[in-house]
Amino acid sequence: MLECLEMLPPDPILGLSAEFKADPNPAKVNLGVGVYKDDAGITPVFGSIKTAERNLLEAQDTKAYIGQAGDPHYIAGVTRVVLGEELSSKHGSEISGVMTPGGSGALRMLAGLIVSSNPEAVVWTSSPTWGNHKPLLESAGVTLSSYRYYNAETGLVEFEEMLEDLGSAKPGDLVLLHACCHNPTGADLTQEQWDRVIAFCKDKQLVPFLDSAYQGLGVGLDEDAYGMRKAVEVCPEVLIAVSSSKNFGVYRERAGLAMVKGTAETAPIAQSHIMSVARRTYSMSAYHGAAVVGAVLADPILEAQWRSELAEARNRINDLRSDLANRLNESQAVRDFSYLVDNKGMFSILGLSADQAKQMRSEHAVYILNSSRINLAGLQASNLDTVVKAVVSVLN
Ligand code: LMR
Repeated sequence: MLECLEMLPPDPILGLSAEFKADPNPAKVNLGVGVYKDDAGITPVFGSIKTAERNLLEAQDTKAYIGQAGDPHYIAGVTRVVLGEELSSKHGSEISGVMTPGGSGALRMLAGLIVSSNPEAVVWTSSPTWGNHKPLLESAGVTLSSYRYYNAETGLVEFEEMLEDLGSAKPGDLVLLHACCHNPTGADLTQEQWDRVIAFCKDKQLVPFLDSAYQGLGVGLDEDAYGMRKAVEVCPEVLIAVSSSKNFGVYRERAGLAMVKGTAETAPIAQSHIMSVARRTYSMSAYHGAAVVGAVLADPILEAQWRSELAEARNRINDLRSDLANRLNESQAVRDFSYLVDNKGMFSILGLSADQAKQMRSEHAVYILNSSRINLAGLQASNLDTVVKAVVSVLN
């Protein structure tokens, strides 16, 4: 059976981490995979998470299965962080959630829900979008189309073009929107643009499908949730795939939430379908990471600590944005990098060709994706020079 298979190429994002690991150059810099790092290049475990983990280990007296939807503290806590106190109590009965293995698990479960309820629906994704959206959603049986989103010249959103393309969507189609910190571009919608695109979805009977993997790493927890909250306020149906990997730093634990807003009648029905998709796929989600996040959010002191740890990570990324933009603009005249300061979250695109991106890796040991996406959190005071020199050298 197996001899007919051929070795597949490595994943463009995860494969780069392996390539980086194998490089013996001590001056190498990893700006690839979207993982937060501090100035020492370490992905720390948040203190709030460590405390919750210790408490959990101490108190846990069974490893028996939990309810199929998942840990109630996690579901309630994450729903509150996503929607805020007011909306989550106002719309509580219209919202249901199922704990999933990370944000990818949430996307996969929601794709299963789409296929069960409206197999004709097309999911519209931004061009470009996260490299795994297409493989993940298509393998679940969803049909995709794309809308223009990013202007490679300005490094910002091309909003009128986006709406023009979404004009071809039919009622019942879904619009996949990055809740904040757009991956790979860092180009986010303004609040006014959110208002317009959500009103557009409502008018055209399109369902907003939000992917939220970086809430709190852009402008702030509430600001980054603007689009999700607007969608829940305005549209009758909304899907939200939440990842806790980045904003709680629990990457390998795989904690996520598949959320649905419908009506008091349809939300529990949708939840039953998501649980059925899960049962047919991996049966039940992992517990540990979600339980720890749930415990942080169920304890006001730990939650306050987490909010401040997250703010520290966000401020570091935003400082790095200005440092890099200034250093690049001072060092060359080929490209104006001021847009890096307007982009949000971990990622931006440098605007290099795939060949130049390869050159960054092979000649300068600076690991960036072929799309020239960089993870700004991989920059450190000690490697900024190397990165700036590498970009200047490939641009010239
Ligand atoms: C990324 O885009 O680098 C992250 O979302 C990690 C991943 O799984 O691709």
